[in-house]
Amino acid sequence: MNKKTYILNPYFKKEYPVISHGKGIYMYAEDGTEYIDATSGAVLVSLGHGMESMGEVLKEQASKIAFAYRWDCVTQVLEDACRNVCEASDYNFTKVFFVSGGSEATEIAVKLARKYFLNIGRKSKYKIISRNQSYHGSTMGALSITGFPVRQAGYENYLFDQGHIPPAYCYRCWYGKECNSCRFECAEALEKEILQQGEDTVAAFILEPVSGMSLCGANPPAGYFKKIREICDRYHILLIADEVMAGMGRTGKYFAYQNFDFKPDIIALGKALAGGYFPIGAVACSQKIFDGIYENSAEFSAGYSWAGNPLGAAVVCKTFSCLQQQSLVPNVALKGIYLKQALSDIAKSHPIMGDVRGLGLMVGIEFVKDKETKETFDPALKVNKKISEEALKEKMFLETSFGCNHGKSGDMAMIAPAFTVNYEELDEIVLRFDRMVTKVEKDLGYHRSE
Ligand SMILES: Cc1ncc(COP(=O)(O)O)c(C=O)c1O
Repeated sequence: MNKKTYILNPYFKKEYPVISHGKGIYMYAEDGTEYIDATSGAVLVSLGHGMESMGEVLKEQASKIAFAYRWDCVTQVLEDACRNVCEASDYNFTKVFFVSGGSEATEIAVKLARKYFLNIGRKSKYKIISRNQSYHGSTMGALSITGFPVRQAGYENYLFDQGHIPPAYCYRCWYGKECNSCRFECAEALEKEILQQGEDTVAAFILEPVSGMSLCGANPPAGYFKKIREICDRYHILLIADEVMAGMGRTGKYFAYQNFDFKPDIIALGKALAGGYFPIGAVACSQKIFDGIYENSAEFSAGYSWAGNPLGAAVVCKTFSCLQQQSLVPNVALKGIYLKQALSDIAKSHPIMGDVRGLGLMVGIEFVKDKETKETFDPALKVNKKISEEALKEKMFLETSFGCNHGKSGDMAMIAPAFTVNYEELDEIVLRFDRMVTKVEKDLGYHRSE
């Protein structure tokens, strides 16, 4: 047991590198070792490490005011941060509520949906339907609407289930269909679930337009979201996009939904919202939601102590101005195409790289035992753990995941570097990834003839 630390680490027996500083996609340990931050931490350091100008913003804002409590007052910097979010949505959203992270954001999104129906006089509507193989956060409410058994394990007694439907997961379609030649049975499942639950009881449906760690980058073909939107409208159900991971430029658009043919009523944001420099999340809603609440009570009494923090708001404003001035978002789209292509190219010579997917700089890789049959590895082999360990030997932090096959098996990794990554650095990530996969394959008994 590692008794030298007071930090309650995820793995108690593991020795973690002690990081002192970083620059761009690189992180440096106190012993001088240089690492590539290939997944931007938990897909959040979107502006790269060591940004001195962000340090200045934090210093300047902190020296002005400690905090401003939302029940008492507002700040101009919060107003500006909220306007930035609305502007990025082309004013599909017109009101924003800042919180301290993604789980808080999805929970507030749920409360906002509930509040809307309470206020428009449809009190029976409260249920939130979500998808299997989804992740919406680790607090008990957010974990309840999650469909990711690996992260729910052990806490089931605290969770509720108001309906889950199959994911839009073409590589391993739950209906056994081929991509682009189905009726979107996975979208039709929403209608069935609404009727099963009772349409008068359902308030909202929540989904990740591009899946995070539960399916590492999976996203459905055109048409899926249109169908989902139609079903929601038919039954007067709000559509919540959880873009905590995919939002704020990560997929090559400010919001992932902008890549598709639909508009959500409510969006949950986090991670890249502050470039990686402040723990913050946000919920934004359309004017329709606001009007519904306004007309009947004109108040929204939910939230957390730190909601609307001016320090976080200043970081959000700085992040937006960097995204705009450096044209980072459209470049994320181009860099993402390059990265996905490079990974698809190396996948041809790797028997275990079953699928490369994702949008922008949110590229997921699914590992399989057999590419033809898509058979997954025996969970006892802990392939995802092997992958992150071998990546670390390549001096690269790489986030991996498990459970894409109905939560029971299936190993994945997510490559999601900072938006500021350059093409040479993308090549370096792919090179290290390539070497790492070769080592894992050797360890698993592939490449025996060499
Ligand atoms: C899609 C999605 N929603 C919600 C969350 C929860 O965010 P947080 O960990 O900031 O609470 C995450 C975190 O990974 C996420 O990916």
